Amino acid sequence: MTTTPRALPMKVADPALPARIRIHEVGARDGLQNEKGVVPTEVKAEFIHRLAAAGLTTIEATSFVHPKWVPQLADAEQLFPLLEPIASRGDVALPVLVPNERGLDRALALGARSIAVFGSATETFAARNLNRTVDESLAMFAPVVARAKADRVHVRGYLSMCFGDPWEGAVPVEQVVRVAKALMDLGCDELSLGDTVGVATPGHVTALLRALTGAGVPVSSVGVHFHDTYGQALSNTLAALRYGVTTVDASAGGLGGCPYAKSATGNLATEDLVWMLDGLGIETGVDLDELTATSVWLAEQLGRPSPSRTVRALSPVSHKE
Ligand code: HMG
Ligand code: MG
Repeated sequence: MTTTPRALPMKVADPALPARIRIHEVGARDGLQNEKGVVPTEVKAEFIHRLAAAGLTTIEATSFVHPKWVPQLADAEQLFPLLEPIASRGDVALPVLVPNERGLDRALALGARSIAVFGSATETFAARNLNRTVDESLAMFAPVVARAKADRVHVRGYLSMCFGDPWEGAVPVEQVVRVAKALMDLGCDELSLGDTVGVATPGHVTALLRALTGAGVPVSSVGVHFHDTYGQALSNTLAALRYGVTTVDASAGGLGGCPYAKSATGNLATEDLVWMLDGLGIETGVDLDELTATSVWLAEQLGRPSPSRTVRALSPVSHKE
């Protein structure tokens, strides 16, 4: 791909920010789970291979959920073996979503070494996404986490609706902290705070992080997962970085949403994040040009341009329309 000529952002470091960030790339899972059509397995595999070649080291690959709930990812058994060359490198993690023991059995049978359970801070979303109450979902996750840990499999605990919920409105910080603590108490290695419908603003992010660390959850085990519905994802990320967060979820090209939360739009675009971090002199290991070329290629496969401002700015003219 020929990108348009561009000036690189001038690197101006901010000593209040971390020196290095781990990007948890969710485009292949959070992005593609929300596509109207089913993306061919070979395209998904090539997407993930290209993300790894662009320098991403944590690439969420797919979900072992009920295929009727998320038909877009029903090919997990076919896709995962195609990722073996990446898995065998040893320096790239390929986490997969697993809601229950059935999902764990499927993931372990294929050799997955990193999984994520996904809870909700609100009852309505727990019911819609998992067909369970919040506490029933935690009970469903308990044996999953215990078995995974016994097998030395890395476990992430997602927590959705941490800021606002389209059915319940603003979500009290204490309610989020209770479920977050419960996920960590199950034995999760890390927690990802989901702004599922993208309503967070930076002060709210800082308040939640303060409450969580005050309740004993170390900031080193907390990641942030912002959807960009109101254009706040990057500002919210900066607030989290200032608080010491060093794991940021993002999706290449800004793909994404959630099939069980219709008002959710794409995640923070990885390219927008990398542009900002490059300017701040923060290491990510990601090659922005290779990543942008990947998102342009995927946008061609999907038949529509990427919503990422950075992808559009760096893309050939044909992609901007
Ligand atoms: P359920 O209908 O209550 O399932 O769904 P069940 O436990 O009653 O089981 C019913 C049947 O499904 C059984 O089969 C099970 O074996 C089978 P039967 O005995 O009747 O023949 N089954 C499965 N089959 C394959 N794989 C499985 C599985 N589990 C049960 N894993 C369930 C409960 C959790 C399965 C369902 O609600 C589900 O799959 N939900 C997934 C929803 C989802 O993936 N949502 C998107 C991800 S979350 C997200 O995007 C948010 C995030 O990005 C963060 C943020 O933005 O906030 C992470
Ligand atoms: Mg999400």
